[in-house]
Amino acid sequence: MSTDVQRNVQNGKNHRMSKDETEVKRFLEPFRLSQKTLQDISSRLTQDMIKGLGRHSHHKAPVKMLPTFVRATPDGTEKGDFLALDLGGTNFRVLHVRVNEDEKSVLKMDSEICAIPQEIMTGTGEQLFDHIAACLGTFLEKQGLKEQVLPLGFTFSFPCEQKEIDKSILIRWTKGFNCSGVEGRDVVQLLKEAVRRQGDYEIGTVAMVNDTVGTMMSCGYRDQSCEIGMIIGTGTNACYMEEMCNVKRVEGEGGRMCINTEWGGFGDDGSLRDIQTQFDLEVDRSSINPGVHIFEKMISGMYLGEIVRLLLVKMTEDKILFSGKVSEKLRTSGAFLTKFISEIEQEGSGEENTKRILSDLGLQWSTADLRAVHLICDTVSSRSAQLCAAALAAVANRICTNRGLDHLDTTVGVDGTVFKKHPTFSAELRSMVHKLAPKCTLKFIVSEDGSGKGAAMVTAVAQRIAAQSHLIDDSDEDELEEN
Ligand code: BGC
Repeated sequence: MSTDVQRNVQNGKNHRMSKDETEVKRFLEPFRLSQKTLQDISSRLTQDMIKGLGRHSHHKAPVKMLPTFVRATPDGTEKGDFLALDLGGTNFRVLHVRVNEDEKSVLKMDSEICAIPQEIMTGTGEQLFDHIAACLGTFLEKQGLKEQVLPLGFTFSFPCEQKEIDKSILIRWTKGFNCSGVEGRDVVQLLKEAVRRQGDYEIGTVAMVNDTVGTMMSCGYRDQSCEIGMIIGTGTNACYMEEMCNVKRVEGEGGRMCINTEWGGFGDDGSLRDIQTQFDLEVDRSSINPGVHIFEKMISGMYLGEIVRLLLVKMTEDKILFSGKVSEKLRTSGAFLTKFISEIEQEGSGEENTKRILSDLGLQWSTADLRAVHLICDTVSSRSAQLCAAALAAVANRICTNRGLDHLDTTVGVDGTVFKKHPTFSAELRSMVHKLAPKCTLKFIVSEDGSGKGAAMVTAVAQRIAAQSHLIDDSDEDELEEN
């Protein structure tokens, strides 16, 4: 340890910076974004959102702005029993959900997690859907539900061109999935075919939703002003209620429709090149889908740990950390898990966690290294929170402008491990959104099992609306008869 560093340790926070610390900060400089830059990024996203909504411009838009055919949020009168499937993160879940009108609750009666083995994640589509249908069958058997035909909400958290609530074409895989023969196909159809192949149970009507939509809808049952759903987990994305007159790709002018922004694709046309660091470029290059979901790769859980790892390797090679000795483990892609960032930044136990994590990675650390690693994690997670804030501000500002309001009060339903587990992420995100969207007051509701329960909720709302329109049709007939 150098004498400078020793002085730093003794002096705690007011220490004079050592040469190495100055070097660490210099490395991290490109990750620090000023409020002005964030404002600018927010405006760029607003432009891309407009492009994505356009009748002709959407074909080439990096931010897809996908219509979801969800036209209404819950009104609190929905009820019944539903099945929900949730595919999109590292696991796949099956749920039996009861929507209870009297208590305004969405109850998870039971659920089961099924792992998706790596070979299935990158195998054939048929293998994937057979696996899902088999897990669903086993669950129904255990729950004694095999003889019932329940409506099913399918949360499928990948970009899909939705044609109807039960017809949804996969545009592309993200987050490490790459099953052949699914892109360009209707995933509801693939699911139904797989259930038919199982042959010993049936499912009722199917509603397909993105996890952001599920999250918005499940929070919306509790708080009917919830009009934004946001996920910051393995991937990142948001949806919100847009005015139908702006959704040029779908017939009809009245009312609103939920739009799945797919903001993870922001930057896919090179528009974020000025803020991508060499480490972001490297993460993209070595991913299974280079060149796509650029924004997501700077933000979400699938990538944050890898960005930190690449920084650690480079700084060690440059002899700024760990006495210049890179361990074999640190060189292994994926070795620095995103959850380590949360553990390292944890107040109280952070330092002990850092020592354990670095030792497990086979690194020999000094006290200065511990401090540097903390700073690196803090910088990478802060940038993620601030970029999310810039994106969320674009969505909130848009709703405010759409409605010609001076002030917007609305609720955001949120899910995802990065938002939920990181000690300072949510506070940092909120404070930056407040600065970037000063006309909007956002309330955040953290969703529990949101994407699964929300899929059931979408199915329930669709059934309510169908039932209501039957009533209207019937009363129209009555009127006709009376006339
Ligand atoms: C997908 C989105 C999803 C998000 C969060 C992204 O990779 O493209 O559809 O909502 O991850 O799970």
